[in-house]
Amino acid sequence: MPIDVGAQYRLAEDTAELATSPFANGLRGSSILAIAAEVRKLRAEGRAVHDLTIGDFDPRIFPVPDALVEGIGHELAAGQTNYPPAVGLPELRQAVTALYKRTLDVEIPEEAVIVGSGARPPLYAAFAAIVAEGDTVVYPVPSWNVNHYCYLTRARGIPIVTKPEQGFMLTAEDVAPHLRTARLVALNSPQNPSGTVVTEAQLTRLCDAILAENTRRRGTGERPVILLYDAVYWRLTFGDAVHLTPFVLRPAIAPYTVMVDAISKWWAATGLRVGWAVAPPWIRARMQAIIGHVGAWAGRPEQLATARLLREPERTGDFLAHFKRQIRARLELLQRGIDDMGRDGLPVRALEVQGAIYLSVQVGLHGRTTPDGTLLETDEDVRRYLLHQAGVAVVPFTAFGYPEGSGWIRLSVGSVTMEAVQATLAALREALTPFAEDTD
Ligand SMILES: Cc1ncc(COP(=O)(O)O)c(C=O)c1O
Repeated sequence: MPIDVGAQYRLAEDTAELATSPFANGLRGSSILAIAAEVRKLRAEGRAVHDLTIGDFDPRIFPVPDALVEGIGHELAAGQTNYPPAVGLPELRQAVTALYKRTLDVEIPEEAVIVGSGARPPLYAAFAAIVAEGDTVVYPVPSWNVNHYCYLTRARGIPIVTKPEQGFMLTAEDVAPHLRTARLVALNSPQNPSGTVVTEAQLTRLCDAILAENTRRRGTGERPVILLYDAVYWRLTFGDAVHLTPFVLRPAIAPYTVMVDAISKWWAATGLRVGWAVAPPWIRARMQAIIGHVGAWAGRPEQLATARLLREPERTGDFLAHFKRQIRARLELLQRGIDDMGRDGLPVRALEVQGAIYLSVQVGLHGRTTPDGTLLETDEDVRRYLLHQAGVAVVPFTAFGYPEGSGWIRLSVGSVTMEAVQATLAALREALTPFAEDTD
């Protein structure tokens, strides 16, 4: 009989809480994963569920570029299997600078680029490199994971409740009362979960406010405010929405900006783990030490294959255009369907499609009673009604720190076909019809 280690663990289960630090015990998991578990359970029971919860891609619907798969295979076969440098391979760092030169007309020195295994390690490393315990971090809600990075770095997070009229974006006015003490301002555009894009006026004003504050601090010994700009969805913007880069709008903000990017979203390559950040060399050096000690590098074959494709845009140009069309078609179909429901008196509305793979939708069912007599009081009640009644799985903005009771939810299209979007709309319409108001 082999030794049963699992049985030994079970004998010591009473020590579980004590074995780990209070800090680790205080980390909260993602509430989206709990929803995913509920979806799996319903499906196992034979229910058809339209899953619009995940910020990921179904590779059967959205595969990565063929040239990327080929390139990784090629590098692997060529023996590219040893440690990459902690800062990233020079080929990829140079290719990243070439990418921004070509697309944004901006010259970035190679020493500003640091590579990581996806966007998360550079994001965490930026926090850890910049934020000291108790430092103030200003960020919008709804937002993705900033609260967790605050917890991990023991920062004093100041979540700002943003408004749909502002595209759920953080504005200079929001930040103003906290700017004197802020150490980091975190912004993400196109934004998860709202699918909205920061406007030129919003970003310019925010940059100017940060620049003015840093001018005041200069020479006083106070540490500057840094803008952490998460741009992982930047190549996925639609219609009139254009992606903006802080140091393109305001070059002087460059020494105070860390911009994070990855192939995860715009090449549908979430599982390949290639990301990077652009940071002033003195911040980049600290980030490098952190990423190096954790070993959160991107794999060598993935780095080299990514570098080659970034250098040869004609090999992925078709991919990106096709991919964007597909994502946009799904988002617009959803938006149009929801607009139609709103016109028909159903209590639902959507924001304009702008970017990323998400649509912001507001469902006004609070205080209403379902046909089977259940009173819907909370965002969670509404989410469960949509899941159980319509078979439509969504994530309420409360999962992204937004206050309870708004009715805003995120719809994600990374794992759905056009047919599934049609079916989702039909199911939503049916579930919302009992709540129709007279539009005459
Ligand atoms: C806004 C945002 N930033 C960063 C990430 C993480 O990206 P990666 O998978 O490259 O770590 C995500 C993933 O969902 C995201 O939505």
